Amino acid sequence: NPVAVLINKAMIEIPPKFAGRAPIGPIPKEDKQTSFKKTDWPCSTGLAEDVRRYGAWMREEAFKRIGYLYPKVQLPKEYGTHEARVIAWLWARTVKSPNPAFSHADIPLVSTFMLCTIAGKEVYVEPIVAGDNYQFTVKMGKPKDMDAVKNGTKTIGRGANFLCLLSGSPISGDYIKAEGQAGRIGARLMAVVAEGPRGRIYLSPTPETEATARQAKPDWHPTGDVPVRLSGGTCVPYGLKEWGDLFTPRQLVALTTFSDLVQEAREKVKQDAVKVGWQDDDKGICDNGTSATAYSDAIGVYLGFGVDKLSDRHSTLTRWDPTPTASGIINTFSRQALPMSWDFSEGNPFSEASGNFDGGVGWIAKVIDRSLPANLRGFASIEDATIQTLSSGKVISTDPPYYDNIFYADLSDYFYVWMRRSLRPVYPSLFSTMTVPKAEELVATPYRHGSKEKAEVFFLKGMTEAMHRLAEQAHPAFPTTIYYAFKQSDTNATGTGNTGWETFLDAVLRAGFALTGTWPMRTELSNRMIGSGTNALASCIILVCRKRDPNATTISRREYIRELNAILPEALDEMTKGSGYDISPVAPVDLSQSIIGPGMAVFSKYAAVLEADGSTMTVHTALQLINRFLAEDDFDADTQFCLHWFEQNGWKEGRFGDADTLSRAKGTSVTGVANAGVVESGGGNVRLFKWSEYPTDWDPTTDDRNPIWETLHHLIRTLRQDGETKAGQLLTDVKNQGESVRQLAYRLYTLCERQGWAEDARAYNELITSWTGIESAAGEASGKMTQGKLF
Ligand SMILES: C[S@@+](CC[C@H](N)C(=O)[O-])C[C@H]1O[C@@H](n2cnc3c(N)ncnc32)[C@H](O)[C@@H]1O
Repeated sequence: NPVAVLINKAMIEIPPKFAGRAPIGPIPKEDKQTSFKKTDWPCSTGLAEDVRRYGAWMREEAFKRIGYLYPKVQLPKEYGTHEARVIAWLWARTVKSPNPAFSHADIPLVSTFMLCTIAGKEVYVEPIVAGDNYQFTVKMGKPKDMDAVKNGTKTIGRGANFLCLLSGSPISGDYIKAEGQAGRIGARLMAVVAEGPRGRIYLSPTPETEATARQAKPDWHPTGDVPVRLSGGTCVPYGLKEWGDLFTPRQLVALTTFSDLVQEAREKVKQDAVKVGWQDDDKGICDNGTSATAYSDAIGVYLGFGVDKLSDRHSTLTRWDPTPTASGIINTFSRQALPMSWDFSEGNPFSEASGNFDGGVGWIAKVIDRSLPANLRGFASIEDATIQTLSSGKVISTDPPYYDNIFYADLSDYFYVWMRRSLRPVYPSLFSTMTVPKAEELVATPYRHGSKEKAEVFFLKGMTEAMHRLAEQAHPAFPTTIYYAFKQSDTNATGTGNTGWETFLDAVLRAGFALTGTWPMRTELSNRMIGSGTNALASCIILVCRKRDPNATTISRREYIRELNAILPEALDEMTKGSGYDISPVAPVDLSQSIIGPGMAVFSKYAAVLEADGSTMTVHTALQLINRFLAEDDFDADTQFCLHWFEQNGWKEGRFGDADTLSRAKGTSVTGVANAGVVESGGGNVRLFKWSEYPTDWDPTTDDRNPIWETLHHLIRTLRQDGETKAGQLLTDVKNQGESVRQLAYRLYTLCERQGWAEDARAYNELITSWTGIESAAGEASGKMTQGKLF
């Protein structure tokens, strides 16, 4: 993928070439920094400063050319100033009304009329309807019917279903799609957000403001197809089919202007460099040059990224953030998909707010400045992992694609088309294709390969080849580490049900690797859209691999299980206990991943594990057998009742009859469990008490029926309400229950996580992650200090 390759070049290949050099660019007029007084420019600080300076130059030049499209707006008198710069124009897409009486009118499709939901500072749009016309007016204060305003013109429920603002007729998703396919979706300006002297000002639209936007006449329109299928949604069914369709004419004018200026900036950098005495051999950066021409290419690369960053906040798939976070324009790729938008925001690249050009370039410069070491030479090249010879004798750490999680090649075309326009002369061979190459990409994309099954076969075959390359070429003295974004939500009751994960592991083992460990690692931002909700506890698993002994033998299923029995309990114990102060216990969220390491180490060191019928054991079965170790429990009867009841009903009420049957099966009774103080029984119903309902004066030393379940939830209550010290005291009082409580917490965490009960899962996770602290508090409470380890 050329986009990924260029990002890598920009991080490891380009900076070292120019490390330690002073910047050469013109200092921006409004530069508040005193950078020009600096004489020392270590590492890539000079490069970063030039990116900033030429970025400022580009902005200034662009404003000269297209500033007329971004005029300031007049403010009402009460703001004490006459005019203000616009931060964003907020638009609503429109379709003709399906109601024949209003079929001439452009009806807005609005997902919310709220522009700001900060308590006490609410702002919303009120449409004023007059006959077959309407006007948007911006109102301050809390709307009378908040729910109606929040819903815009959408009907309740999911999907693209709206109501006609003029007639009240329903507008179905299919109707909108048909209008979109016929090129009849338009847009009406709904509100304007400006930079006031004391924060944002929301204004009603005027015909002039709308007319200015319509003046823009782009002379370039990126071609190439928007992906027709994407998990997370695509706008193609609504007629936005080509990349250029995702932008307003004014956005296209801005992006093409900035893209043109990348070329001009390169020319200018070259001249400026020569003026201050740089050599020039006309060798570009792609020919390994390091003189003025190559430097101008280098600056061009980062400025080209600046245009791409701009494109992310300047499309019609962006949204205005009405929440108290008030982040301004929410970028196109806030999720890895391109779903249709109804109301969208159009930013101002010349403002001081989100989506401005300077801001984007500023972030890029900050990365160069602070995060790129530039002291070691690196290089990046475009290779197909299934045939590459680059890794020969190298230490390998790789982050391969995750089955069908993300269609990189399809999605990155969004950026590629702009990058290609700005940077093709810098890296002609990298940008030789019109769009990102797709055929070699190792993702299981059913629509590309014809069916789900064919996609799986393609992925398994290709990934096995790619992994085989690594196993064969890796430096034998070092393990190879492979990152995999394991989805907790994909685990099912047997612990594993994720085709992607199993197919991937299968490929790694078939390729000749043996697994020697699995390390969980937090890598994903918790606020990623694809993460939140769908995979809230996402983390990454690192597979530690070594080439399998070519003389490895086979074993039977029975021998495999025997070996697991011998190894896993101890491994599990070590993981969940941690040791001393320096090795913390593995958090429950990570346990099902971590246990795979020692389990798979057994499975994968053999050439094969043979089933009773002589067939080879699948990875799926091997994982199931490993996962059984997480499910074993040996709790008291009351706790077992609670556990199973909880699994079925959560904290909700259930029928007494069911509880009675279950309690008998577990060797207890509903009355007994109620006496223990963990359930409420009455009116033919039974329900478990939540930990927050437990009495605060509980004393385990005088309680004569004290199941593990009760102790665990008292511990959670105490930890949450009174902290670790008090929880430690409680742990001392419950004497020998500590170990079982901890195991139950793990068990319940896994259960909640699989059920998608995130709030409950968090409570159990918190207890486990605080366990070491609680134990040491318990140690102190009972007068004996825990001894730390010397080594
Ligand atoms: C999980 S992503 C890596 C992300 C990277 N660690 C980062 O932070 O940007 C997987 C990458 O594998 C690349 N890829 C897919 N198929 C490939 C192939 N056949 N050869 C080489 N790379 C491939 C994709 O383009 C994608 O960039």
